[in-house]
Amino acid sequence: MDQRQLVELLRPALADAPPDGSWADLGAGEGNFTVALSTLLPSARLLAVDRDQHALNHLAERLPEAEVRRADFREPLGLHDLDGVLMANALHFLRDKGPVLELVRGYLASGGRLVVVEYGADRGNPWVPHPFSFPAWRRMAEAAGFSDVREAGSIPSRFLGSMYCAWCLKPA
Ligand SMILES: C[S@@+](CC[C@H](N)C(=O)[O-])C[C@H]1O[C@@H](n2cnc3c(N)ncnc32)[C@H](O)[C@@H]1O
Repeated sequence: MDQRQLVELLRPALADAPPDGSWADLGAGEGNFTVALSTLLPSARLLAVDRDQHALNHLAERLPEAEVRRADFREPLGLHDLDGVLMANALHFLRDKGPVLELVRGYLASGGRLVVVEYGADRGNPWVPHPFSFPAWRRMAEAAGFSDVREAGSIPSRFLGSMYCAWCLKPA
């Protein structure tokens, strides 16, 4: 997938997001989606979190304006009043996503949005152990207290069939 496709996958999820908000990308890796986020919201403040310092070093070279932090997103990160959180291909490492979703909801301001990018599958493999299709995501996100759960779009993927982007809101 090239960078232009990543931008187009995210675009509908950010259509009415404030352009100068504060965002965290949790499990940002080398920053493929962090760069896409910064393309769509060029005035936003971006924090990229990952437990892999090597990946974060690469991200920092690509996107020097982003703040990077080595941390485990299963632990409280002390964030608050964020306009948005992005988790791209990161939640599928967790069997039980509930505790992390509760932390994420606490980081967001009222009306803030959580954007996820995931494979459209409910059966995993050693590399993507616990994926979830959009219908499963809707149930999980609503159970975690998010509202307005929507699919922004999806694209074919040679790996697990498809990849989708979805977004939801922390109720005001
Ligand atoms: C498949 S990569 C996705 C990277 C990027 N978001 C993307 O879509 O291109 C998953 C990333 O999540 C990070 N990760 C997985 N579990 C994590 C955790 N508990 N805390 C922090 N980072 C984690 C990994 O280190 C890895 O960089």
